[in-house]
Amino acid sequence: MRLSTALVAIGATVASALPQIEIKGNQFYFTGNGSEFKIRGLAYQPGGQQAFKSDGNDRFDPLSRPDQCRRDAAVIQSLGANVIRVYNLHADLNHDECVTVFNNAGIYLMLDVNSPVVNTHINKENAKSTYHHGYLENVFKVVEAFKGYSNVIAFFAGNEIIDDKKQARENPPYIRAVTRDLKQYIKKHSDRFIAVGYAATDTRSESGAGRDSVVDLWNYLGCSIEGEQDDMSRADFFAVNIYSWCGDATWESSGYPELVKNFAETSLPIFWSEHGCNKPEGEPRPFNEIAAMYGREEMIKTFAGGLVFEYTQEENKYGLVTLSDKKDIMGSNVKLMKDFENLSKQYDGVDWNKIKNIKTDSMKVVPPPKCSSDMILGKSNFASDFSAIPKLPSQAQKFMDDGVSLNNKGKLLDSMDYKFKQKIMDSNGSEVTKQFALVEMPDAKVNDAPSNKGSGGANGGKDDKSAASSVALGAAAVVAPVMAALAAML
Ligand SMILES: *[C@@H]1O[C@H](CO)[C@@H](O)[C@H](O)[C@H]1NC(C)=O
Ligand SMILES: *[C@@H]1O[C@H](CO)[C@@H](O)[C@H](O)[C@H]1NC(C)=O
Ligand SMILES: *[C@@H]1O[C@H](CO)[C@@H](O)[C@H](O)[C@H]1NC(C)=O
Repeated sequence: MRLSTALVAIGATVASALPQIEIKGNQFYFTGNGSEFKIRGLAYQPGGQQAFKSDGNDRFDPLSRPDQCRRDAAVIQSLGANVIRVYNLHADLNHDECVTVFNNAGIYLMLDVNSPVVNTHINKENAKSTYHHGYLENVFKVVEAFKGYSNVIAFFAGNEIIDDKKQARENPPYIRAVTRDLKQYIKKHSDRFIAVGYAATDTRSESGAGRDSVVDLWNYLGCSIEGEQDDMSRADFFAVNIYSWCGDATWESSGYPELVKNFAETSLPIFWSEHGCNKPEGEPRPFNEIAAMYGREEMIKTFAGGLVFEYTQEENKYGLVTLSDKKDIMGSNVKLMKDFENLSKQYDGVDWNKIKNIKTDSMKVVPPPKCSSDMILGKSNFASDFSAIPKLPSQAQKFMDDGVSLNNKGKLLDSMDYKFKQKIMDSNGSEVTKQFALVEMPDAKVNDAPSNKGSGGANGGKDDKSAASSVALGAAAVVAPVMAALAAML
């Protein structure tokens, strides 16, 4: 749907769907023009997992508080992100306004269907006892809550449920089972494709599941049992939380060449579901991996991008921004960390136009290999029996057939407010809120990389002076001062 200039001028807006994204071979692409879509984003969970409120009257999740989302979407938009990953969601909360905020900012969502609450995740210590109809009912409710938002492009069926050798032997069949259930449910109850995949722990160390375990899991989840293309228990994508590039590491010392070698022949997209090592501790992260991830030929060909961990600074110290009032996650002002400014500079140095112009029809597609225990390198430690995938629990069949009931199925809103009251400070503590006005992308454009925004961004950046109204301000006009501020920093 095209957004009319007249409507923009009077401050009303019409929700427009971002372009549909699908998968071909090992890349995501825009269905409309066949161009590759590279993931460039971050993990979004202000307050960390501890802040996920699962009981009481003020239960909330990261997408249930619009005032928080407006503030953060403005910051994330100016960084140039095109995806956020959100963990820990309550299906029964209202997410319409938050998701509309991110949609209108040109940002897609990748969502975890699991949460830390009992019965809403597979317990990695005991997968068997936690894969049951009650668990699946919640998973399907999350799908119902979010499938109606066209900017939701993927669900993570699981995150890091294999950390050691025991879990590597026992848990892979459950990941395939949940993947299958989700894919079948979406096929039956959604009118569009939404990708389903898994986010793995980087278990390449010997203290983890062993050297070969990530490759084994990729093989395990990416193969096709009968050799068929649309095997329902085969993951649509494989993601890994990789923190092996730290500080001033180089390409050679980062462990990345090994990843390229291991995954060069991948039949499905692989991306970094988390990255951004924070060692050496206490120093701003330089994010030198960005130049490699989005600049090196072999990386661009093999991988589909990545998500930086994470938006806010929490106890484990992986933040890009700090909340000045930790007790008021929603109302707090935001201070950009040096990490944010560094990441922004790194993104700015990438040739995004080159990536944009890659067409999926010219790429080499590797068909899914047929599953076989021979493909599992560390057989003594890792599941290799593909007949062990548990069946859908019989009590969950009715959910699959009829759909689960949920009163608040999500829907993008036709109009919304773009103003926020909180302040944004740069890393020196100077207020820079004005430079971070939330911009509505016209014509449902995807949020662009900072270096591209100057040309052809939202509105061309000239027809509106009212950043303070609920009207879009041109992206170019917003980005220019941010760039100037960054340049001044150098
Ligand atoms: C990251 O920030 C620190 C502190 O401002 C700075 O010394 C360093 O040069 C920055 N790194 C990059 C790659 O911009
Ligand atoms: C393909 O479409 C997407 C979504 O509209 C757009 O962002 C991208 O720039 C287009 N690619 C090219 C090469 O025009
Ligand atoms: C922060 O202050 C330092 C020292 O005055 C200055 O060099 C730098 O440009 C400032 N950073 C920003 C983001 O304004």
